[in-house]
Amino acid sequence: MNVGGTLIAGPAAGALRGALTVPGDKSMSHRAVMLAALADGVTEIDGFLPGQDNLSTAQMFIDMGVQIDWLSDDKRALRIHGVGLHGLRQPAGMLDAGNAGTCVRLMTGVLAGQPFATTMTGDASLCKRPMRRVVEPVRRMGAQVAGREDGNLLPLTITGGKLKAIDHQSAVASAQVKSCVLLAGLYADGTTTVREPKPSRDHTERMLPLFGQPVAVAEDGLISLTPSGRLRAPQATVHIPADPSSACFFAVAASLVADSEVTLNGIGINPRRDGWRRVLQAMGGDLALVGEATVGEEPVADIAVRSGGLHGMRVDGGDVPDAIDEFPVLFVAAALADGEFLLEDAAELRVKESDRIAAMAAALNAAGAQVEERSDGARIVGVQQLQGDIDVDAHGDHRIAMAMAVAAQRASGEIRIHNAAAIATSFPDFVPLAQQIGMNVRWADGA
Ligand code: S3P
Repeated sequence: MNVGGTLIAGPAAGALRGALTVPGDKSMSHRAVMLAALADGVTEIDGFLPGQDNLSTAQMFIDMGVQIDWLSDDKRALRIHGVGLHGLRQPAGMLDAGNAGTCVRLMTGVLAGQPFATTMTGDASLCKRPMRRVVEPVRRMGAQVAGREDGNLLPLTITGGKLKAIDHQSAVASAQVKSCVLLAGLYADGTTTVREPKPSRDHTERMLPLFGQPVAVAEDGLISLTPSGRLRAPQATVHIPADPSSACFFAVAASLVADSEVTLNGIGINPRRDGWRRVLQAMGGDLALVGEATVGEEPVADIAVRSGGLHGMRVDGGDVPDAIDEFPVLFVAAALADGEFLLEDAAELRVKESDRIAAMAAALNAAGAQVEERSDGARIVGVQQLQGDIDVDAHGDHRIAMAMAVAAQRASGEIRIHNAAAIATSFPDFVPLAQQIGMNVRWADGA
């Protein structure tokens, strides 16, 4: 667990106002580095998210002999000298994914294609998260994987090489599993297919063609990749749009604090990531899309948010994967909405960076909310205001920490959020950007 770091948050002194540009998308930043490193030629990327998770992915490739030049001090622009699909070198030591599940699960697919043994590890939280979902398919493709609980837990040692193409039916709607199998499929002897129970985020399928590798997506959802033998660095810079999962915190804060008006610039609105906006709108949120455009293969828009009364609703089934990372802060919206909010079919939340159902229920209930845990979700009955002058635990989970900082804006006093340092994994600038629109939040040590 990412321990330490206390945030002191809330209540908001007044309306939240202003326009913000949040950093680049975390999911796309991982993929852009991976594909660029494995391509022939030099790729330039801008809008990269310089959070710890993405820096772990970049470091893994540096450790395997890939040259990465940072083109700006803030690490948002970089140049990657690709080594080709077969150009990685065995690293001298263990590869460390830190807190990053996406890094370790997608890299399992990449390492399955390498003709050498590599060991990947991570922090205490990542070492508890289930890896069987990616280990099982790459084993079927021919890679050898060793790890605790028969390869379910990090550290994992992967020895790969030429792989067999497989048809993979995923048990969970997971973009990490799908992407792992597609990346391993680059090294397979034929067409690899993936089918998921519900569609998950599709950035891998959208980005691979930019690197000259077609991916077919059939109307019935079957995804197929026939390896073309190489990835090619795109001529044009790869632009990464702003992360909707980061924007969502400010959208919920602006919805909840009276008289607020906040615009979030250039946010990714890919339908597989836009579930949070649809949920917040269906709860009565006032969100408008302005200036819709396309960045690379991804749709973006400015999102103008005004405060307004929210009411509860039911979210389940196919709507869940489209908002999977945003439920911590959607729970905050629900805790302060009129009536009942019911989330079902979301058991995956229990195996994220923390058990997000338990962590949010404990933190919100400590603030006087009415959250009832369910095995696969929660039932939340809204209250008018939360209580302040309390301590809550973010459990080293970035999204719990930021969600509770939003909740505190509508509390009667300060909320002290402990073990919040993990914010740096996905959104190092969260506190200064939150302050820019008038949120009341600061680090206890004054940073
Ligand atoms: C991600 C997929 C999701 C999401 C994670 C990022 C990705 O995980 O929760 O934050 O970039 O592929 P699952 O694939 O486990 O649903």
